[in-house]
Amino acid sequence: MNATEIRQKFLDFQVKKGHTIVAPAPLVLEDDPTTLFTGSGMQPLLRFLLGEPHPAGTRLTDSQPCLRLQDIEDVGDPRHTTVFEMLGNWSLGDYFKEEQIRNYFEFLTKEIGLDPEKIFVTCFIGNKKYGIPRDDEAARIWQQVFKEAGIDAKIAEIDTAEHGDKRGIKPGERIFFYNDKENWWSRGGGCDSTPIGDPCGPDSEVFYDFGEDKQDVEKYGQSHPASDGARFMEIGNQVFMQYRRLEDGSFQELEQKNVDFGGGLERLCAAAMGSFDVFQTSLMKPIIEKLETLSGKSYDNDTDEMRIIADHLRGAYLLSAQGLIPSNKAQGYALRRLIRRAILKALDLGIAQDFLRETIVPIAAEYQSLPDSILTHRADALAVLEKEERAFRQTLSKGLKELEKLSHRKQTLDGADLFKLQDTYGFPFEISVEEIYRQGIKLSRDYKAEFDAALNEQRERSKTASKGMFKGGLEDHGEQTVKYHTACHLLLAALQKHISPEIGQKGSNITSERVRFDFNVDHKLTPDELKTVEAQVNEWIAADLPVSFAEYDKAYARDVLKAHGQFWDKYPDQLKVYTIGSADAPVSREVCGGPHVEHTGVLGRFKIVKEESSSAGVRRIKAVLE
Ligand code: ALA
Repeated sequence: MNATEIRQKFLDFQVKKGHTIVAPAPLVLEDDPTTLFTGSGMQPLLRFLLGEPHPAGTRLTDSQPCLRLQDIEDVGDPRHTTVFEMLGNWSLGDYFKEEQIRNYFEFLTKEIGLDPEKIFVTCFIGNKKYGIPRDDEAARIWQQVFKEAGIDAKIAEIDTAEHGDKRGIKPGERIFFYNDKENWWSRGGGCDSTPIGDPCGPDSEVFYDFGEDKQDVEKYGQSHPASDGARFMEIGNQVFMQYRRLEDGSFQELEQKNVDFGGGLERLCAAAMGSFDVFQTSLMKPIIEKLETLSGKSYDNDTDEMRIIADHLRGAYLLSAQGLIPSNKAQGYALRRLIRRAILKALDLGIAQDFLRETIVPIAAEYQSLPDSILTHRADALAVLEKEERAFRQTLSKGLKELEKLSHRKQTLDGADLFKLQDTYGFPFEISVEEIYRQGIKLSRDYKAEFDAALNEQRERSKTASKGMFKGGLEDHGEQTVKYHTACHLLLAALQKHISPEIGQKGSNITSERVRFDFNVDHKLTPDELKTVEAQVNEWIAADLPVSFAEYDKAYARDVLKAHGQFWDKYPDQLKVYTIGSADAPVSREVCGGPHVEHTGVLGRFKIVKEESSSAGVRRIKAVLE
């Protein structure tokens, strides 16, 4: 069964169970300032999981392309990828644990044909600190489901999934309780790191057992489902989204109890074909074969490099086919990083010529199945990637020239020199070292330590700037970020009121430290204008205005409410509008997905720290909350 068939089987199966197929979202979510990339199927559905009605009903399903940059260092093993497709189904206050568990088991065993004996599952052990009970209900349902399949499933408790756990599995054990590091799901991780305002809950994960001979006891200890190693692979996560985290850090039961299921298509394919290597599935194999041809090397010998290239180029293609351009910032930087890493790994394989054109062919073919509504720039993708490829090769050759100059100037190069080459010219450390050896240039004995010291020093300096950007694609989604988001709305309203009603938002970037806000205007704002705008925002904060939202028809929101929106062409027919102030005389009304604070009084003092040009006709304001 290939990936296309499994994806179709999943969607058909969910439709048979009463679900409606919804279109997947783009990887870059325009109305979600808290995130770099879509990292799970639930992310575009956040507001519906918090209680807004979804136009397609209470049972939804889709196949969502995802990108998780936080896994980039793990790519190279048999199962980690930064880019993957998440098969998903959701119950929005409809069915709950029993129906979800039964359905997924049925899908795996009847539709995909997995052997029930090879299925192991995990449940949440509970958390005393937050008073969240053990999920005995899920465990009981699993026991019953296994019993009906003729399996006597014993329950075990393992309050850790740390490496080196020597406990292993005792005879008959099949259902495992773990703590919140494993079996609690939120966009931020376990209970303590659940973002304020987010929906979350205990989860029950499903694992496929590739056999005892796959466990590496020396390295990882005896395997159990959530431990490291190649024996078990997670093939689905059923989140019972029944809580929401409150400002005070506690967890409140949601009135609407949801199911959020996600399973990686790549992994399901691997399990279906009995291979623990996702790079052997129909999604990846053609890319690997192409790399073997281009390099003249074999996957068996150069496994890690080929996996990294295949993964990164899938991500690079998906992003560029959605219209993203490589740059030095945020998402554009991530794209650049994927392309450059792939080119460097290809160099390791001896592929020194341009190779993206040929390698992208099988990738584009596989993604033929994704709708045009997401891959809006399919036709341009290759040109964008090739341009970056050429630019990077130029960087590499410029780096070589700089290296040569340096070696004429100095007898012995040190780690600080290598850092400068990397930092200023983009010439990677590893390549410098290789070239230095090749050319017989002298290098200080402690060059690696010197390089690390220079790198660390720079990292320390830029810590706040990059903090969170690649952590699950999620900015720190805490209180402070949400405050800045509300401040953004006030800032726009103040600009419209005091500078020009024609002003619209042209972009924004919010971290927990500051907001950067771009808007169209025909002149550089004067110090007096900036003072007026700042004072207006502070006046609204001091008035402690209520912040509320409601859902409207698009035409009503635009033409009657005159809500501010940036993407009217792209909005769905029903949308969410945030209002600050009273309903009849609001100070701000914007189409927005949220989240926001409930009262402006909590924002603190608003201060504009910079006004500068962003691009032609667009100015940029940087502001902080004190
Ligand atoms: N949202 C869940 C996950 O990402 C299904 O694992």
